This record gives sequence, structure tokens and C-alpha cells, in this order.
Amino acid sequence: MHLHKYEKIWLIFGISSLVVFLCVLGYGAFWKGTHPQSHGVTIDPNNVEAYEAFKPENLGLTKVDDNRYIVNIVASAFNYDLGKDENGTAVRTIRIPKGSTVLFQLTTKDVVHGFNVAGTNVNMMVEPGYISSYEAVMNKPGEYTVVCNEYCGVGHHMMYATVEVYE
Ligand code: CUA
Repeated sequence: MHLHKYEKIWLIFGISSLVVFLCVLGYGAFWKGTHPQSHGVTIDPNNVEAYEAFKPENLGLTKVDDNRYIVNIVASAFNYDLGKDENGTAVRTIRIPKGSTVLFQLTTKDVVHGFNVAGTNVNMMVEPGYISSYEAVMNKPGEYTVVCNEYCGVGHHMMYATVEVYE
């Protein structure tokens, strides 16, 4: 079989690209431990209160240890339910001391929503029937706006909350 010179160059280029790609993928997966989520945690979207984390009294910010917090949120059109304060007013802002490790756990009662703490790596899709969670270290003080980045209906742009990281 005779191969043209350019054909050979192209084949070498193609095969070496593939090898490089597989090496990068293998390095990321086996040495760096980068994996997609291994399982989904499911929940009944019609009865999220049955799940301990999403009982009304457990919503919002909970301190679990020195510098460790959990934030439980139920999203619905067009609101993030962060629980109520001692006066019975709906909480809109979560205040976290700088340097804390925060586990965000979310679910939704109705449609797909987003949860993006703008300016950080916290960015999740929130789907009915599933619990989305992400742990982040909040190192940079400031006020972060939480936005819904999945179009969920006419009030989509009104759906927000605030995360404040203080010194
Ligand atoms: Cu919720 Cu868009």
C-alpha cells in the first residue's frame, strides 16, 4: 500500500493528537482524581420536607464545626428558600466568615433552576427529584449575588439571594 507524503503527515498528526488527548484525560482522572459525580442523590420533589436537610427548620445556614457550614436551600419559582429568621421574616442573605468551608445543598420543588454564587466556583443546576451539592472554601470577603442561571419562567430574573463573606 502506498501512502502519499501528506497522508502520512496527517495520519501521524491525527494519531499523536489522540494519544496526547488520552494521556491528558488519563492524567486528570488517575493522578489528579478528576471525576464526574459518581451518583445522583434522589428526593421526592413533592415532599422535600421528608428529607432531613430540607425540613423548614433546617433551611439556611447551619454551623457544623469550626469554620464548617452547611447551607440548605429549596429552590422554587421564583425564590430560594433560606428559612426564616427569629422574627419569622424570610432570610435573603447568608453571612459566612472568611475562610469557611461551606457545603451548599439544594433541591427544587418544581422546575429546573440554577444556583450560581456569581464570582465563585459555586455553580449548579438544580433539578426536581435530585439533590445538588457543592462544597466550597469562601476565601474572598465580599458580597456575592446568587443568581438563577436556568430559565425557569417569567420571574426567572427576579430569583436571587445574597452570600456575604466577612472578615
Ligand atoms: Cu429559577 Cu431561573
